[in-house]
Amino acid sequence: MLSAVKKVVVGLCLSVVFMSASTVSFAYDFSKSAVVYFSTRNNTPNYDPAKVGSIERLAKEIGAQTNAPVLEIRTAKPYGETYDETAIMARQELADKTLPALAQDIAIGDYDTIILGFPIWFGSYPRAIATWFNSQDFSGKKVYLFVTYGSSGWAQSFDDTKAALPNAQVMQLFDRKGREVKAMSDEQVQELIKESLSKM
Ligand SMILES: Cc1cc2nc3c(=O)[nH]c(=O)nc-3n(C[C@H](O)[C@H](O)[C@H](O)COP(=O)(O)O)c2cc1C
Repeated sequence: MLSAVKKVVVGLCLSVVFMSASTVSFAYDFSKSAVVYFSTRNNTPNYDPAKVGSIERLAKEIGAQTNAPVLEIRTAKPYGETYDETAIMARQELADKTLPALAQDIAIGDYDTIILGFPIWFGSYPRAIATWFNSQDFSGKKVYLFVTYGSSGWAQSFDDTKAALPNAQVMQLFDRKGREVKAMSDEQVQELIKESLSKM
């Protein structure tokens, strides 16, 4: 009898610890939300890892705090191995308004809220995001943006997103320098995300 009681007490304690580690309460209802991101790092093999990787870190933490699925946009063809190689390809795509093929479909029909992250590439969203915008119906969706950058801040990315998604409600969640995010502790990243999501 005593051991059964002990088991229940231990079980309850464990579930409280588990819940406090993985779930944060927010006023916003994230039950129909998805986190979608494109990162420089995962589309540029061998690119200096010290300089990239901020968006993925933030996206995963948003997923952890909201319990929303985290979906990654990847191009079918990777970019270059260095900044210069990648920049030449990306600049050409921007000039030509190319819609690069994606590695897989990311459908948003099941979601009312998209929390979308990308690095600023030449003042706006990478062209892979343009391909994805064109592939989905964003009517009535709420789109919250988070971006990282080297020095430019949002530049044209917010206005360009609003123009690309006229039937969605597009909002800024937060922006940070990529290298600032890379230097943050896990606790600092958790705090940044908690604070940002609390404002939704
Ligand atoms: C092709 C390319 C273009 C970029 N253009 C800009 C830019 O216009 N402004 C800026 O501040 N940073 C620019 N950056 C820097 C990235 O936005 C920055 O490194 C970002 O934090 C990368 O994040 P990630 O590794 O999570 O994708 C560019 C980087 C690349 C590779």
